[in-house]
Amino acid sequence: MENDRVNSQLLILKELIFSPKNMSMVVPSTQSLFLEMIRHIDFSDVDTVVELGPGTGSFTRDISGRINDDADFLALEVNTRMHRYLTKRFPQLDIINDDARNVQKYLAMRNKTQADVIISSIPWMSLTIREQIELLKIIHATLSSDGIFVTYSYAHTKLFRIHRQFKTVVKRKFSNVRESRVIWKNFPPAFVYVCRK
Ligand SMILES: C[S@@+](CC[C@H](N)C(=O)[O-])C[C@H]1O[C@@H](n2cnc3c(N)ncnc32)[C@H](O)[C@@H]1O
Repeated sequence: MENDRVNSQLLILKELIFSPKNMSMVVPSTQSLFLEMIRHIDFSDVDTVVELGPGTGSFTRDISGRINDDADFLALEVNTRMHRYLTKRFPQLDIINDDARNVQKYLAMRNKTQADVIISSIPWMSLTIREQIELLKIIHATLSSDGIFVTYSYAHTKLFRIHRQFKTVVKRKFSNVRESRVIWKNFPPAFVYVCRK
């Protein structure tokens, strides 16, 4: 556990130097943020779970511990070094080195069309508005009709126009969007969007 923490931190520091755009974190997300992310998810009733941008796997470990043995779990991490780290850390899990935009291809390869739960750590604020719209459209199409999509954003980004744009796009796409309280026990402090179709 302590080893995982140290290795995750070292990898984040390295990636902040080599690919800062997609990283958008300085330390792994905390358990407090994870618990807020999954607060409205009933894992006992879930058949397919997708994680987008798992990073160092701080959520991955806890998600995989909660899903049923017969449920499918699939994660897409675009960063090759992060992916290599994740596959070493979780050799038993289905973690793919590709862009979240290709999620439907990988579900189809597993004879699935949709997911009941989509948990995303995609750094939305580093995407252009066009990229945000494109990915949210794919996520919406991938989510089952009674599914749940959760994602987070850092609290300080609320000050920026790109965040207001993101919020507008999310609310346009999903009919039911809830914003959580700020999780101060995360660095940086963050809040969660819980979205349903
Ligand atoms: C904020 S970090 C992940 C935080 C994670 N909860 C943790 O604690 O490690 C965002 C991750 O999303 C990945 N990412 C960014 N854009 C992506 C995309 N389009 N598809 C898949 N992964 C992406 C980055 O490589 C990075 O690992």
